[in-house]
Amino acid sequence: MWREAVESDDIPESGGVSVFVDGEAIALFRDGDEIHAVSDTCTHAGASLSEGGVRDGTVRCPRHGAPFDLRTGEALGYPATEDVRVYETKTEGGVVYVRVNDG
Ligand code: FES
Repeated sequence: MWREAVESDDIPESGGVSVFVDGEAIALFRDGDEIHAVSDTCTHAGASLSEGGVRDGTVRCPRHGAPFDLRTGEALGYPATEDVRVYETKTEGGVVYVRVNDG
């Protein structure tokens, strides 16, 4: 189901913001015109990915530097080996929604 997450304007141009939706910590990022949502918890050692830097469709974990693909959640490099969950997003009326708890 779709859940309201954040005002679109509250997502910084070059970084992320962390929100809790239905008990899940989700990191939202702006990359150009696109907004991406992934689990806020790095699969390596639990750092908050919303504090990482965004570049060319990836976020780099702020603790040990593992890059993750923002579209697929794929762990693209050391030291993370497990992908992060991704969430579908949509923006309506300046509000970003994420899709959670389906199935
Ligand atoms: S906690 Fe993210 S790479 Fe180690």
